[in-house]
Amino acid sequence: MTSVLPAPSTRRTATRRHYVMCRPEHFDVTYAINPWMDVTVPVDRDLAVRQWENLRATYVDLGHRVDLLDPVAGLPDMVYTANGATVVGGVVLGARFRHAERAAEAASHLAWFRGHGFARVVDPEFVNEGEGDLLAVGDLVLAGTGFRTDPLAHVEAARVLGREIVPLELVDPRFYHLDTAIAVLDDSTIAWLPAAFSPASQAVLRMRFPDAFEAGPADADVLGLNAVSDGRNVVLPVAAGGLAAAIAERGFTPVPIDLSELLKGGGGPKCCTLEVRA
Ligand code: ARG
Repeated sequence: MTSVLPAPSTRRTATRRHYVMCRPEHFDVTYAINPWMDVTVPVDRDLAVRQWENLRATYVDLGHRVDLLDPVAGLPDMVYTANGATVVGGVVLGARFRHAERAAEAASHLAWFRGHGFARVVDPEFVNEGEGDLLAVGDLVLAGTGFRTDPLAHVEAARVLGREIVPLELVDPRFYHLDTAIAVLDDSTIAWLPAAFSPASQAVLRMRFPDAFEAGPADADVLGLNAVSDGRNVVLPVAAGGLAAAIAERGFTPVPIDLSELLKGGGGPKCCTLEVRA
């Protein structure tokens, strides 16, 4: 009889995670700083809040801890908490935003971490957009540049976080943050969109992650790679059906989520989720 369980090598283990989220009470598209944003397309804020509440409830149901950052009027992108900091080994590297429209979000994140007992909270010198461009994978931090995060911030992140940084160059404006082009599934497994990277960065990723699997354009075009994994359960946009199937084949459990309103700002589940790594 054939077993329905994946082979032992692909059996996945979930670990409890700690996330920071921000309810999209002031979410809107009033400016356009990435190609997904169109100020002429109306936003249904109530629907955005309902979809976001579903994302939060999904994490809680999976056993994760979710803390909330207070939304601030006039900061419509604050729902994308992943951009506000990078937390590795209990060290908090704050963000510095590329665009003036989001600059004030950084202070809310710094204040939150300082108020929650984090001993080392660093206000950065160079532009970095948090986990949008700094993705921890095991002991490494993959670091994006090209659209938002300054390459000098990679050096700063290596020093502050005490981790090896792998700089990667993004080349397609639709995939302006690293977390739109790479999904971190566990400490050694990623899914990615090769076309989002320069040839040199594609070569680096192929060398570092020979088992990585490639997303197709159809999944990437719905920000399917903007996913959140606990090592087994992978929360990803509902429209990314091909990616969900590929993930399931490798022993992960896809957890599809509809965040259609927040996609109008250019974000998906990962953008709305800042991970706190103790
Ligand atoms: N409108 C936001 C921006 O352009 C979206 C941020 C999405 N966040 C992310 N982690 N990719 O900055």
